[in-house]
Parts: sequence; structure tokens; C-alpha cells
Amino acid sequence: MDTDTPHIVQLASRIAANTTKLNTYIEAHHLPTPSFDVNGPKDTLVPKEEKDVEAARVAIIDDTQELRRLVLGPREYLMSYTHNELTSQQAITRFRIAHSFPVGSEASFEKIAVATGLNKTNVRQIVRHAVVKDIFAEPRPGVITHNAVSRLLAEDQVIHDWVGASTDDLWQAASQACNAIEKFPGSQEANETGFSLANQTSETVYQVFSKFPERARRFGNAMRSFTEGTGFELSHIVDNFPWEDLGKGVVVDVGGSQGFVCFALARKFSSLSFVVQDLEPVIESAKEHVPADVASRVTFMAHDFLTEQPVYGDVYFFRWILHNWSDKYCVQILRNLVPVLKAGSKIVLNDNVLPAPGVMSKWQEERLRSMDLTMTELQNSHERELEDWARVFELADPRFKFQGGKQPAGSNLWLLVAEWKGDE
Ligand SMILES: C[S@@+](CC[C@H](N)C(=O)[O-])C[C@H]1O[C@@H](n2cnc3c(N)ncnc32)[C@H](O)[C@@H]1O
Repeated sequence: MDTDTPHIVQLASRIAANTTKLNTYIEAHHLPTPSFDVNGPKDTLVPKEEKDVEAARVAIIDDTQELRRLVLGPREYLMSYTHNELTSQQAITRFRIAHSFPVGSEASFEKIAVATGLNKTNVRQIVRHAVVKDIFAEPRPGVITHNAVSRLLAEDQVIHDWVGASTDDLWQAASQACNAIEKFPGSQEANETGFSLANQTSETVYQVFSKFPERARRFGNAMRSFTEGTGFELSHIVDNFPWEDLGKGVVVDVGGSQGFVCFALARKFSSLSFVVQDLEPVIESAKEHVPADVASRVTFMAHDFLTEQPVYGDVYFFRWILHNWSDKYCVQILRNLVPVLKAGSKIVLNDNVLPAPGVMSKWQEERLRSMDLTMTELQNSHERELEDWARVFELADPRFKFQGGKQPAGSNLWLLVAEWKGDE
């Protein structure tokens, strides 16, 4: 397209071309066309090997967003953000509105009010706010039906937990983040956060959740839905580190939860043995679910990684652990390994690495930037660029030699490696 063509027209043309590409793929594979009709598809997913089609889909998301912002113009764009962005989603999950009438039936505001115990005016406010956001439909004034989005909330507990935890736990923490930054400038403590202010406590997220089992279950389920999806496959760990070079080595999975990473590694590398460490209650439940085929090589051990490491390992593996902790505590966690390390021991992290600005799609970058903010809001931690990771090891002990890492193709997380050099 010629360079004199206005940018908004270029965007519109690109959107049209990419939509045609996506639609051609959908039709060729006899997939349902994207629709919020109650029987419409739950996802517009493209298999990851269809890289061109997925790139077209991502470009549509980025370009439609940019076109919308340009067409609004700066003033209307800023004013188009409303602080009620999440209110109806919070209310729908908090008051189980999607469950208040069956999929395929019609409901009046009154009927929903009776089923949920809410007042009819609040129901009308909440549901009509949701309808303009394409959650529920109102085919005739005052008559509410499910559409594909509200149906998903009614039928899929995991997505219901995701929206519930996002709007209750995360959003409330986010709303207090600036107050926390002002009150505790530069704090690295996990109990001086937006979350602690929102919950009027001086306890950490995990201490608070330990008192509310249902909230903890919902949060855990929400987080799992995030980490079990595309890009978090264990194959990225199994296939992208020279595990076979460890021979009969020992891998210690620190904060290894139920041990699923070690199970996957044990199945492929039959000479290795594994120790999964986590907090006592996690280990107690994990021990009950060890698959028989690997049980002889995977042991479980309660260990608090904020205390000195008791076990020797050729590799200490941390998956999605250190991004939860501020530099001060990452340093402490790494120093706790030092007494048992031998020259050549490796620390392998499977964690986020922040990209340089603008190298990925805006939509994908925004999700990472949001995750970065969430870490502060919940834990006073933050996501790290590659140099930040190098610095954490350097701060912990100069005898750690950070070797960098890679992001395996298709993986959301990186594999980062540091070697203990000992006293050379
Ligand atoms: C975000 S999860 C990551 C779990 C697992 N590595 C994975 O990849 O899914 C963090 C884990 O760290 C554990 N954890 C939190 N604080 C800990 C501590 N002080 N010592 C040991 N484990 C801890 C939690 O119980 C949880 O299993």
C-alpha cells in the first residue's frame, strides 16, 4: 500500500486481509465461525503449528485495538476507560448470576433477583452493564438469555474461578497498589502491598489464603488455568536442557508443588533421581498422588526455601518461584543453597523474562506488563529482564556464573541457567 495512504486506512485494510486469512482457515477446517450466539464456539483457537494463521489472528487483535484508539482520539480514548470495567464481571461471579437461570431459557430481572437474593434494581444495573460488554444477551427489553460468554461462566468452573479471583483478589489488590507504593516506598516485603492494604492486614497473600480455604481453592484453580494452557507444556523443560548429561544425578525441584515436572523428567531420563520440595501441607497432599511408574525415583520433602537447603543436588530447579519474590528474597533463597553446592552444580530457572519493548504483539506484551504489575500488587516482587536475572545471581554470590538462557519455541517461560563455580 502506498505510503501516502492514511494510517487508519492501512490498519483497516490489514484487518480485512487478516480476517479473510483467519476465516479461510476456519472454513477449510470446518470450524465454527466466531460468534457469541449461545451455541457459538468457546474459543477461537488456532493450533500452534499454524503460525501464519495465528499471526493473522494476533494482528487483528492488535490492529483493531489501535484503530479503535485512533478513531476515539486522545481525549475520548482516555475517557473511554471507566473504573467500572470489571464491576459487572465481579458481580456475576460473586452473586453467581450466570448460574441463576438455565442455559436456553429466558429470565426477567425479577427472576434473577429472586434466584440470587439481590435487589431487582442492582440486577438490572449489573446485567445491562454486562450485556453491553457481550456477556448475556437481551433479545427483547427486560428479557435476558445466555450467550456464549455467559454460558461459559455458567458451565466452566475454571473460567468462573478465573474471573472471580481476578475481580475479587487481583483487582482489589491493584486498586490499592498506588496507596501501597506511597505508604511503603521501595518495599521488598510481601506484606506491604496493595493486596495487604485491600485486605486490611499485615499478612502475605499465602498467609491470608491459608485462613480462607474456598478463596485459596479458587485462586489456585485460577492460577492453574493460566499455567496449564498453551505455552506452559512440560515438554519445553524436558526437551531443552541437557538432562542426560547429569547421568545418575539428583535434581531438586524447589517449590515443586505436586511434583509434575519431576514425573515428566523421570519418565524420559531413567538414570536421574528427584527430590520435590515444598511447604509441609503441599508435600503431604502431593505424596498421596505419586504415579507408580516413577515412585522409586521421586521423593518428597517438606522444606521452606527461605531456610538453608539440606539436600545436595546436581541441579536445583525453580519453576515459577523466583518471580514471586523481590530481589532481597531471591538473594536469600539462592544463598540458602550455597552450603550444599559443589563446583559445577547448576541452578535452572523456568520463569518469565520480560521482553524489550515492542518486540512482541501489543496484546501479548500488555499481558506480560500486567503480570509484572500483579507481582508488585501481590508480593512486592516484579518480573525481570535478562539483565535483572543476571543481577540477582550476582547479588546473591559472585561464585554463581549466570549463563543466560533461552525461550524454547512455543514456550511462554524461559529456561535460565547459572553454574556454581565454587572457590576457584
Ligand atoms: C507459583 S507456585 C509454582 C509451583 C511449581 N513450581 C510449578 O511450576 O507450578 C509456587 C510454589 O512455591 C511454594 N512455596 C511458597 N513458599 C514456599 C517456601 N517458603 N518454601 C517452599 N515452597 C514454597 C508454593 O507452595 C507453591 O507450590
